[in-house]
Amino acid sequence: MRIPIVAGNWKMNTTAASCAELCDGIRKGVDGISGVEKVVCPPFPFLFIARDRLKGSSVKVGAQNVHWAERGAYTGAVSHMMLAGVVEYVIIGHSERRAYHGDTDETVNRRLVAALAAGLKPIFCVGETESEREAGRTEEVLRRQVRLGLKGINVPEGFVIAYEPVWAIGTGKAATGPMANEAIGLIRAEVARLSGAAVAQSVRILYGGSVTPDNVAEFASQPEIDGGLVGGASLNADSFVSLVRQTAEVAAAKP
Ligand code: PGA
Repeated sequence: MRIPIVAGNWKMNTTAASCAELCDGIRKGVDGISGVEKVVCPPFPFLFIARDRLKGSSVKVGAQNVHWAERGAYTGAVSHMMLAGVVEYVIIGHSERRAYHGDTDETVNRRLVAALAAGLKPIFCVGETESEREAGRTEEVLRRQVRLGLKGINVPEGFVIAYEPVWAIGTGKAATGPMANEAIGLIRAEVARLSGAAVAQSVRILYGGSVTPDNVAEFASQPEIDGGLVGGASLNADSFVSLVRQTAEVAAAKP
């Protein structure tokens, strides 16, 4: 059975004080909930705060991006060697990095290779834009992003991918459960083609894009969906705890 994950992508939000407060609230709310992995991904300057506040709890910490080089003249970048030992997870290839910071399938692949080599667990993001979906290109885009992103990579068991249709992120316009389930099925099929059926069956594939406590059960109950990558609704402790609780309940009832 695949263990579902609820991961909070805090993006460029919180302060040192609100990061600590959010961590405390989440810790208190989710510690008794089992059967779900919980991850929070604060901004870089607050990773140590989150790590300290969550030490000894079931909540894991992730970063939001990573560079592929070990060190060097890359102003503003953070390397996989720096993150190793500080965080467990790292989001790679988020559509906002692709859209605003020049990430391409090739650089996403380099980040994934480096992160895995450093022992980090990537949350590898893929997803089509609205115009790609309208042009009937969703399958082609998802397969390409998966194929090029995972190029040369020996996909480990339990690897994490997030399907985030760009048109659903931060818009309040979530996909429907069946729509996300179908896209995630395509992603899993591409992983199976590249890495074999056994690995593909072990890969956790999350849905992301306007997930809230009101719609999380619809996604979590889909057979292909193994949790969520959540932006806005992860910035409030009660709402994040509700996402985790509902995901655990739905997962326990899954065949
Ligand atoms: P959202 O963001 O939940 O605010 O739509 C999701 C994401 O970008 O990971």
